[in-house]
Amino acid sequence: MADLTVDVAGLRLENPFILASGVWGETGATLARALRAGAAAVVTKSVGLRPRPGYPNPTIVEVPSGLINSMGLPNPGIEEYGAEMEEALRPGRPVIGSIFGATAGEFAALARRMERWGVSALELNLSCPHAKGLGAQLGQDPGTTKRITAAVKAAVDIPVFVKLTPTVASIAAIGRAAAAGGADALVAINTLKAMAIDLDLCIPVLGHGTGGYSGPGIKPVGVACVYELFKAVRVPLIGAGGVSTGEDAAEYLMAGATALEVGTLVLRKRDRTFRQLSRELARFLASRGHRSARSLTGRAHRGD
Ligand code: DHB
Repeated sequence: MADLTVDVAGLRLENPFILASGVWGETGATLARALRAGAAAVVTKSVGLRPRPGYPNPTIVEVPSGLINSMGLPNPGIEEYGAEMEEALRPGRPVIGSIFGATAGEFAALARRMERWGVSALELNLSCPHAKGLGAQLGQDPGTTKRITAAVKAAVDIPVFVKLTPTVASIAAIGRAAAAGGADALVAINTLKAMAIDLDLCIPVLGHGTGGYSGPGIKPVGVACVYELFKAVRVPLIGAGGVSTGEDAAEYLMAGATALEVGTLVLRKRDRTFRQLSRELARFLASRGHRSARSLTGRAHRGD
C-alpha cells in the first residue's frame, strides 16, 4: 500500500486531504465529524473579531461544474467560536483556524486568540472574493499581504498558512510577498468571483449579487496557480479548488502541492468524501508504481 502520509510545515498528516474552510466548519461537532470520516485535518469557518450575520438569501446557487456561494463571512465572532473548539479538538487531529480581518492588528489579535483555543495552525483568509475591505481586497496587494502575514507571525508560535486568491495579475508575486512575510505554507486557491443571473426575474440569483465559484470547473485554474507558485517560492503548498477524485489530487501534487483542501465535494459526498479520496489516490499511486504521495510533489516540473 502506497504511503499517503505528508508533512506540511511540521504538521504531520495521515493523508493529504484537509477539509476546506466554510464547509462543515460552523460547529465543532461537524469539524469532528469530518475528522472521524477520514479528513487528516480540518479548517474552521473563517472567524472575525465580532459577530457577522452574513448576506441575505439566496447564498448558494448550482452552476455547471460547481457552485457559486456568497455567505458573507457569517460567524459568531472569535469569543463565541471558542466554545466550538473543544469538540473539534476531541478526535486529536489537527484543527486549522481560519481568520479574517480588515487590518494587520485585527489579524494578529484573532491569531493570538485562535492559538489559545488550541489550533495547530492558522489560515489567513486573504482571498474571499466578494467582501468589502476584507479577503481578496487585501490579498490582491503584495505589500498588504506581506504586512498582515508578518504581523500574525510575530503574534503566534504556530505555523501560519496564507490562502491566496487566483484573481490577480501574478499569483507568484503575491506568493512571494506572503513568503517574505514569513508564511509557513500557502494555500492555492480560494474561490473565483462569479455571478449567475435569474432570467425570469432579470436580477442576480444570489442575494449579494456576486459570490465565489468553486468545484470541478476551477480545478485547472488551481493547478496552474500551484504550478506557478512552486516555481516562485520555497514554502509548502496546499492545493485547493475542485478536487473530486484521487487523480485530481495527484494532478495537484505533481503541480507542486504537498496536501489538498477539499470543499465542494464534501457537500455532495458528505462522510464518504475523505476515505474515498484516500482510497482512490492510493490506487492511483500503486497503479503507476509510485511509493508515496510525497514523491509526487512537483513531479511535473522535472525538465523545466
Ligand atoms: C465566502 C468566503 C470565502 O472565502 C469564499 O471563498 C466564498 C464565500 C463567504 O463567506 O461568503
